[in-house]
Amino acid sequence: MDFSETDSVDAVVASFADTPDPRLREVMTSLVTHLHGFLRDARPSLAEWEAAIDFLTAIGQKCDEHRQEFILFSDVLGASMLVETMEASRQAGGASAATGEGLDATSSTVLGPFHVVASPERALGDTISLVDGGEPCLITGRVTAPDGTPVPGAQLDVWQADEKGFYDVQVPDAQPLGNGRGLFTADDDGRYHFRSIVPAHYPIPTDGPVGQLLTATRRHPYRPAHVHFIVQAEGYVPVTTHVFVAGSPYLDSDAVFAVKQALVRDFAPVDDADTAARLGLPNPFRRAEFDVVLQPVA
Ligand code: BEZ
Ligand code: FE
Repeated sequence: MDFSETDSVDAVVASFADTPDPRLREVMTSLVTHLHGFLRDARPSLAEWEAAIDFLTAIGQKCDEHRQEFILFSDVLGASMLVETMEASRQAGGASAATGEGLDATSSTVLGPFHVVASPERALGDTISLVDGGEPCLITGRVTAPDGTPVPGAQLDVWQADEKGFYDVQVPDAQPLGNGRGLFTADDDGRYHFRSIVPAHYPIPTDGPVGQLLTATRRHPYRPAHVHFIVQAEGYVPVTTHVFVAGSPYLDSDAVFAVKQALVRDFAPVDDADTAARLGLPNPFRRAEFDVVLQPVA
């Protein structure tokens, strides 16, 4: 039978009939069904389809050890947040993270493309800010289970942009690798604290094909100010999340759709010379409290 518009899905799906892995067969069937549906709906010309392939090629060519343009593409389409949201629901056994009993598990959000170098191990109380500039801050919190039981020894991997909105890997001449990053271990009571600077809101990288897409669609590239966290402990579901800075621009129009209101915290000014001296901070400083609730593995 000739390939036709009406039979195209059946023809291609049938070609995957002998796929030994049932999940791969299921995913390829769904992909072909939706891709052909999209093409029948959008009806691209051959020239437009070639432009689309050139665009995807340019995305791949932009990727290197420190640049992940495919993650960025997934992020600006909301695909990263959709997968992240479905994963959180799956990990919670199909229920939402809010169980109605005890504390709600901390919401997840996007990983983003800048978790590309290992965070240096640091001791509680260390600073992750290795360069001058920025408004000093203290970030503290406690990692617990939903019933409030502390999670001793939980590992917190944190990374953030500087006060100009750049990650270390974006400006290797201005920041040493590891600036704005730290791997911390919570104490016996599940508590952690570290020093940093208040991060700034920033544009996602716009010097590649994803930037061109944002320009062509009149979308802004900004993300509200935030600090990234991956928190994990044995026996618990790891969470990839952020703490957002209350009052930051773009909290209501994040370019990658990743804001959850439950993750927004005040970075409140503190005037306390004794605490500042004890922790190695100038006075006054800013302080944010971010407790993390991990879901036990089912
Ligand atoms: C980030 O927060 O690092 C990020 C997330 C998505 C796209 C670009 C940057
Ligand atoms: Fe970020």
